Amino acid sequence: MRFGHFDDKRREYVINTPKTPYPWINYLGTQEFFSLISNTAGGYSFYKDARLRRITRFRYNDIPVDSNGRYFYINDGGEIWSPGFKPVQNKLDFYECRHGLGYTIITGRKNDIEAQVTFFVPINANCEIQRLKLKNVGSKNKKFNVYSFIEWCLWDANDDDRNFQRNFSTGEVEIEGSTLYHKTEYRERRNHFAFYHVNADIRGFDTDRDTFLGQFNGLNNPDAVTRNKSFNSVADGWSPIASHNVEVVLAAGEEKELIFILGYCENPADKKFMPDGSLNKAPAHELIERFNTTEKADKAFAELNDYWSSLLTQFHIDSPDDKLNRMVNIWNQYQCMVTFNMSRSASYFESGVGRGMGFRDSNQDLLGFVHQIPTRARERILDLAATQLEDGGAYHQYQPLTKKGNNAIGGNFSDDPLWLIISVAAYIKETGDFDILKENVPFDNNEKLAAPLFEHLRRSFYHVINNLGPHGLPLIGRADWNDCLNLNCFSTEPGESFQTTTNTEGKVAESVLVGGMFVYAGPDFVELCRRMGYNDEAKKAQQYIDKMEEAVLKYGYDGEWFLRAYDSFGKKVGSKECEEGKIFLEPQGMCVMAGIGVKTGEAKKALDSVKKYLDTKYGCVLLTPAYTKYSPALGEISSYPPGYKENAGIFCHINPWIMAAEATIGRGDRAFELYKKIAPAYIEDISEIHKLEPYVYSQMVAGKDAKLFGQAKNSWLTGTAAWNFVAISQFILGIKPDYDGLKIDPCIPSDMKEYTVTRHFRNADYVITVKNPNGVCKGVKEVTIDGKKAESNILPVFADGKKHTATVVLG
Ligand code: BGC
Ligand code: NOJ
Repeated sequence: MRFGHFDDKRREYVINTPKTPYPWINYLGTQEFFSLISNTAGGYSFYKDARLRRITRFRYNDIPVDSNGRYFYINDGGEIWSPGFKPVQNKLDFYECRHGLGYTIITGRKNDIEAQVTFFVPINANCEIQRLKLKNVGSKNKKFNVYSFIEWCLWDANDDDRNFQRNFSTGEVEIEGSTLYHKTEYRERRNHFAFYHVNADIRGFDTDRDTFLGQFNGLNNPDAVTRNKSFNSVADGWSPIASHNVEVVLAAGEEKELIFILGYCENPADKKFMPDGSLNKAPAHELIERFNTTEKADKAFAELNDYWSSLLTQFHIDSPDDKLNRMVNIWNQYQCMVTFNMSRSASYFESGVGRGMGFRDSNQDLLGFVHQIPTRARERILDLAATQLEDGGAYHQYQPLTKKGNNAIGGNFSDDPLWLIISVAAYIKETGDFDILKENVPFDNNEKLAAPLFEHLRRSFYHVINNLGPHGLPLIGRADWNDCLNLNCFSTEPGESFQTTTNTEGKVAESVLVGGMFVYAGPDFVELCRRMGYNDEAKKAQQYIDKMEEAVLKYGYDGEWFLRAYDSFGKKVGSKECEEGKIFLEPQGMCVMAGIGVKTGEAKKALDSVKKYLDTKYGCVLLTPAYTKYSPALGEISSYPPGYKENAGIFCHINPWIMAAEATIGRGDRAFELYKKIAPAYIEDISEIHKLEPYVYSQMVAGKDAKLFGQAKNSWLTGTAAWNFVAISQFILGIKPDYDGLKIDPCIPSDMKEYTVTRHFRNADYVITVKNPNGVCKGVKEVTIDGKKAESNILPVFADGKKHTATVVLG
């Protein structure tokens, strides 16, 4: 069952009921000001950092779910309704929500009034614009009142949610005509404030929540709205809000637009106040002036659309498969931008206060984003590297506002350092910017410890070599990619979380996955050594890689698949000898992508085992059989009930590794079959089972052991976005940036006859048509570029700002 449809032409998903199985959300903002918005206008806004600069308040896990947002009320002669259905929840004559790229349009109609709100965050501006178009679609004149509503968050969302003894006394606002200012905590060292403006005269306002609502009411029936009279309340402590009241008169057929602006501003420390002690509102006035007419808002909206059109021309496919086109051309790339911006900080599953920018996460997010805006990828790499520790290890995350690393969710993850090599290599392959390796970057955010980025990669590489276990495999540390496989943690005190009990003494548990990753990432380090002229170093590094490959094959292979790990007692994990968790997905993907056992048959066997044991109709589960009991020797993984999350959930992030691995051994039919199983556009028809947004990937879909098999959780912020883009664009469609050009090496389903990819690469446009006359999966027979036969399947770097046409024939 569907709850809407794709409108590919407008690059939108159109939802036609407010009653989606869960709030289906979108993100507004591309740079510093961001908003989350659900299909009923729920959600919140923040500046840069969802924890430290939360602008509006949102209650996670609220009842009913998703009950706070930017809301409009219409009081039409006592009949009260909201264009987005919530919060009033009166039946509408028409409802529609269109989630587009960086904007959302919600339309509601009742009793001949049509209210359409377009929400977006303009390019280069710290505000959310809400254009409310009101139209009288009937034949009689209409006079009614519109009320706006937002609730301010007192900036630090974590504190806002718990420190009430203080917070109820700090709230401060100012009112100036139609602009309602929020300046809580401004009097102390802070210099930021927010405002909510409407470009019309107002009949009244409210800024004190409890006055606006009345003693016993919720947001569905605030006193101000039901009595049709704002109280002009001025908040003094408690919970400041902003609500305007605008009277609207419309003749039959007439249409009017109100433009609301929710803005964030900063003043220099010495210009915070005016001589009379009031807020210096100049930056707000400027921002309002930029967007406060229909013409200006039209222009800003057009700019946003142009921005996306231009970003999406970087990679574009034309194929006979509409679903493939819509994933590749629109939604997967869009999600890659969102994950790049948010990392794992703020979604409807990530509260914005727990996790900032993950080291592992952001390095991976970059893989799906680097072609869109390479300069931003460059900046991100340098920020991430600056949080690396001197020994090559890394803080597991950093706070976006301060860019300082922390280990709020633990440290000593053994895979973290290697992701930096992988992301830097991807960036250089995209751009040819080898100079980034010479950039001086601090360790541990300490300028005194700065060293060239290349040195960071060297420390990453040797962090693995300096931490090998008894089988010559990398020590797993607290965990590797799988946060929940905590093999060194075998002492949980009652009342203590297993997350904090990592054993630091006998930590000998080893990870086959990180062994595979080392072999996957290592060759790029070797190549970069060569390009820097460090040939001896390259040779030495290659020897370590060869040795690791041997160790993985010797101690990390279990006969039919790759083992997962050795625990701290030296026992195998992910082996046929185990009672549960006999086979894991991650090492099969990573080791085969690394090329381990490809020539000698182990790789193929491992992928056959994936198909035999781990595959389901909704994608591959992370392990089988699921763990049925909690075991301190395994850690958090066994804390989940069977079929959920890391305990045998369908972890979408790893599915593309298997696609890439299948492509590595040439099985294009299987790679594409797996792609279609988890790509949201292909499973739109089972939205009632899947539950979450059919236009973006979720982190996890409940596995075959779960009661709710097929149900997704954690939509939006997941490495699934980047890895699926890598799998489809590079491994399946075969358009692979390389150090010296664009390598074309498709591995497609045999019945895919032809497709054309337009790829912007290093200041030239490549129009690449792949033809498959003989129905093969892999193997480039002939390449022509600009009408001439090419010597290899690596298209040269033209960098001439021109268009170049290539034809690639498989066979
Ligand atoms: C989740 C992981 C997540 C981790 C972050 C765990 O509970 O299962 O998916 O990465 O928390 O701390
Ligand atoms: C989600 C985390 O964001 C990611 O870093 C991790 O690799 C997976 N969970 C698996 O545990």
